[in-house]
Amino acid sequence: MADQGKVRVGLIGAGGIANGAHIPGYRAVSDQVDLVACADVNRATAERTARQQGIPGVYESYEEMLQKERLDAVSVCTPNRFHAPAVLAALRAGCHVLCEKPPAITAEEAREMERAASAAGRILTFGFMFRFSPEVQAARRYADAGALGDVYTGRVTAVRRRGIPSWGVFTNKELQGGGPLIDIGVHMLDAALYVMGYPEPASVTGVTHTRLGNQEPGIAPWGPWNYREYTVEDVCNALITFRNGAALLLETSFIANIEPMEEMNVRLSGTRAGVKFFPFSIFREEHGTIVNEQAAWQPGGNNHHKEVAHFVKCVRGEAEPVSTPAEAVKIQRIIEAIYASAAAGRSVEA
Ligand SMILES: NC(=O)c1ccc[n+]([C@@H]2O[C@H](COP(=O)([O-])OP(=O)(O)OC[C@H]3O[C@@H](n4cnc5c(N)ncnc54)[C@H](O)[C@@H]3O)[C@@H](O)[C@H]2O)c1
Repeated sequence: MADQGKVRVGLIGAGGIANGAHIPGYRAVSDQVDLVACADVNRATAERTARQQGIPGVYESYEEMLQKERLDAVSVCTPNRFHAPAVLAALRAGCHVLCEKPPAITAEEAREMERAASAAGRILTFGFMFRFSPEVQAARRYADAGALGDVYTGRVTAVRRRGIPSWGVFTNKELQGGGPLIDIGVHMLDAALYVMGYPEPASVTGVTHTRLGNQEPGIAPWGPWNYREYTVEDVCNALITFRNGAALLLETSFIANIEPMEEMNVRLSGTRAGVKFFPFSIFREEHGTIVNEQAAWQPGGNNHHKEVAHFVKCVRGEAEPVSTPAEAVKIQRIIEAIYASAAAGRSVEA
């Protein structure tokens, strides 16, 4: 680590999430971090970010940035397609890495990333910022304390009614690997698995539909998207089973004729109690009564900032990553299997 023991950080990809979450997150711990450089294949984006955010180093190539800047750590904030190559390059350069979610597109990429992190002896962790929410943290504490009992069933929801992004590359299967499942479903699925202790996946049955996103937009609250180049699913439903016998039902959409405009949630049921993450609720039987309990108060804070601050702590050797490469492999196995099952029209091993 360089001057005054500050962590020298670089950014790979300087678009929406880099500017909206990572840079403010690092700025919030600026006593521990020097944000020294950013790299973006789009030079104008890198220059704009550097100018607006006061970052001295600007690069078009992350390879060049990694070679020249003697970085301790990087955030990988590119479209999903480039997560694995950028992570591997950063690890090779001796950097600790915070990679945005999803970890990768395929399970094999995630395995390669896991092997590389282990060989390099560097931290590799992921942008699953919902893990830092007070609700998910509370659910995890209830589960760890045994208050839920044995968790064996649940529902994972990440739905939008008219929520196709009109910006970025979220509707491009080649660059993202898919639509709502790999973009927003992955957040709630990770949160559910985190609370369940990341059980070993067994098999999945998945169904996807593209029925509305590839049609000319009607009402588009997030702006009209390019429907002619819409190559991802609108909707995905899946049944995920685990080797411990547990099962999760997953429902995710960018666009569907459903009641809520948006819902991100997880409901888990165990032998002692059930839990809903948002708003945090516990369902159980007590003193001959069926009761619902809700948190009266939970701490606030920005989940992205907490995630970045936690990463910095891990780099400084003051904490252990909450999100690990081994978990990344499991979630990518599930996602890959859901898409494979949907394509094959039958259940597949995860
Ligand atoms: N945690 C969250 O809530 C959250 C929210 C939004 C996006 N994300 C994730 O962040 C990632 C980026 O999303 P975004 O919204 O910032 O997209 P974006 O399109 O706004 O930004 C991505 C940037 O990466 C650059 N880029 C592309 N290929 C590159 C390469 N090979 N090397 C360097 N730069 C490259 C692009 O030019 C672009 O500026 C995605 O993986 C997405 O899933 C996470």
